[in-house]
Amino acid sequence: MGCGPGRNAHYLRRVGFEVDAIDLSLEAIEWARERGSGVNFIHGDMFEAGLTGPYDLVYDSGCLHHLPPHRRVGYLELVGRVLKPGGHLGLVCFAAGAMGSERSDAELYRVGSLEGGLAFTEESLRWIFADFAGVDLRRMREGTGHFGESFLWTALFRR
Ligand SMILES: C[S@@+](CC[C@H](N)C(=O)[O-])C[C@H]1O[C@@H](n2cnc3c(N)ncnc32)[C@H](O)[C@@H]1O
Repeated sequence: MGCGPGRNAHYLRRVGFEVDAIDLSLEAIEWARERGSGVNFIHGDMFEAGLTGPYDLVYDSGCLHHLPPHRRVGYLELVGRVLKPGGHLGLVCFAAGAMGSERSDAELYRVGSLEGGLAFTEESLRWIFADFAGVDLRRMREGTGHFGESFLWTALFRR
């Protein structure tokens, strides 16, 4: 979801997944396609694209924190619809206290801006994803040789 230039989509393809990857930005999708083949890159709005899955894994690196709060209902409906029972949702998002706007949902609508992305607390993530089983939720590790920034949460939920 919100695959951008396809970093994770290409990685998942390399390790054996069949991958559908979607992004609103045509430039990002064109760039992702230039970076390799084998992934079904889709240009469009994930809420409107008619995705059906069913998928073993839905992966969101950095999309949720760019969505206004009211879109979380549709986000959960989308994930719930396309994910197989027992399937996993992988999530990366800004961690409160380290990165992102910490305004309340009401304040965000008052100022009319997401201020570059929303910060989430551990409690807020557990509340939003309460219908999922939490497999892991922790700050991303740095220095592993892979992408890693400690201002991000990384989470795995199971439907
Ligand atoms: C911070 S970028 C993350 C890109 C990529 N996942 C990564 O980790 O490098 C967030 C992406 O979500 C995309 N996005 C936001 N809302 C979307 C929507 N409704 N449907 C599809 N893509 C969306 C944006 O276009 C943007 O490329």
